[in-house]
Amino acid sequence: MIDIHCHILPGVDDGAKTMEESLEMLLMASNDGITDVIATPHFSSTYIQSVEKIRANVKELQYQAKNNNININIHYGFEVRMCLEIFSIFPSDLTPLTINGDGKYILLEPPFLDYPLFIDDIIDRVISEHIIPIVVHPLRNTRIISNLSILDKLKTKGVVFQFDKNAIMDGYQIKTSKIFLSLLKKGLVDLVASDGHSCDLRKPTLSNPYNRVLKAVGEDAANLLFTENPRRILKGEITDELHLISNTFFDKVKHIFNF
Ligand SMILES: [Fe+2]
Repeated sequence: MIDIHCHILPGVDDGAKTMEESLEMLLMASNDGITDVIATPHFSSTYIQSVEKIRANVKELQYQAKNNNININIHYGFEVRMCLEIFSIFPSDLTPLTINGDGKYILLEPPFLDYPLFIDDIIDRVISEHIIPIVVHPLRNTRIISNLSILDKLKTKGVVFQFDKNAIMDGYQIKTSKIFLSLLKKGLVDLVASDGHSCDLRKPTLSNPYNRVLKAVGEDAANLLFTENPRRILKGEITDELHLISNTFFDKVKHIFNF
């Protein structure tokens, strides 16, 4: 599996605090079957990161992982908060904030409570720069949960959706696994990532949600969401869309999600 969203770098945001904790998280991820992880520190008005420093941090962490015999590849990116300040911080060319700096994909984090109009402006700006927006954990936004048609509208613009494992494992305050499954059925789930922050509360692991998706919709779909689409994003290729439209099939498996 490939984890494209993880706060694995030490001391740069609210993720790993020390190099020791980063290495512990990497070992946990590797033991869980993850081969590649993209380090995605927060980038926002609160966390204005130096791109050069983050790249150096990734190199250092990869070096330390190798020294500690942890077999995992570390790549770099950012989780960019969708806020108006992004226009002034980066008035032109968002390429430095894209995954691997290749100008193909960027992780965008919506606000949690509201859905302000500038979200569409940011999406439009990203697309105008020929960068594909990946909107992360959309089910953490209460406005989206109460109006799922927002996701349809964003999809028509070309947005890719990354869900985090809490959406599958009912790790939020409201149960979302039923919504997740309905979105999967509509082809609105492109991939799943851990959004790992530590070895305790938000772990950098994916095997539990993978197994749940595997049981619900089979190996091909699970591999697409946890390995193939993340791999394509890592290479800057276009993701494959998943369309599961057989109601009969979902009637058979829905008991797994208890709805
Ligand atoms: Fe995150």
